[in-house]
Amino acid sequence: MKQVKDKYFIPFIDSTTLQERIKILAQKVNKDYKGKNPLLIGVLNGSFMFLADLFKFIDIECEITFIRVSSYKNTESTGKVKQILGLQEEIQSRDIIIVEDIVDSGITMQEILGQLASKKPASIKIMTMLFKPKSLKVPLKLDYIGFEIGNKFVVGYGLDYDGFGRNLDAIYVLKE
Ligand code: IMP
Ligand code: MG
Repeated sequence: MKQVKDKYFIPFIDSTTLQERIKILAQKVNKDYKGKNPLLIGVLNGSFMFLADLFKFIDIECEITFIRVSSYKNTESTGKVKQILGLQEEIQSRDIIIVEDIVDSGITMQEILGQLASKKPASIKIMTMLFKPKSLKVPLKLDYIGFEIGNKFVVGYGLDYDGFGRNLDAIYVLKE
């Protein structure tokens, strides 16, 4: 059991299981993007560890970059929007793979997808390490999924509880 701040977490997905699954995801990318030079766009902070490990198993020509999504901001015209920060690369006509740690309600991913799609890339696919299908609130097609999990709160391997727990080398679930 691990303590992160005031809560306790129990082992959920161990490091070997994670690495085996990540290797399979990378092999799919190697096959699907052979000869294409995709740009992998990691969503910070949560995806950094997953994407670092995934990237080591990718053996086709490809590039990597990272974005950050600002927390919800209220604007008078559109209501709540999340803004993408840090994208320096020209993505027009590129093959894009967005890489996330977890898709929960799907709202964050839907907004990222919309904003990147408006820049006219050749293609966009989504990869997420974890997916909570029962929590999904918006229509979203996920192309590569590491693991589907129930509606539980998890930490570790990049995922945080209030900023902490990201350094755990495996995924832990909140002890009820
Ligand atoms: P969504 O917009 O509801 O899909 O939320 C996505 C974001 O919420 C993720 O990128 C995470 O930062 C955070 N999140 C959702 N579920 C969890 C969890 O179980 N543990 C840690 N962070 C989570
Ligand atoms: Mg995240």
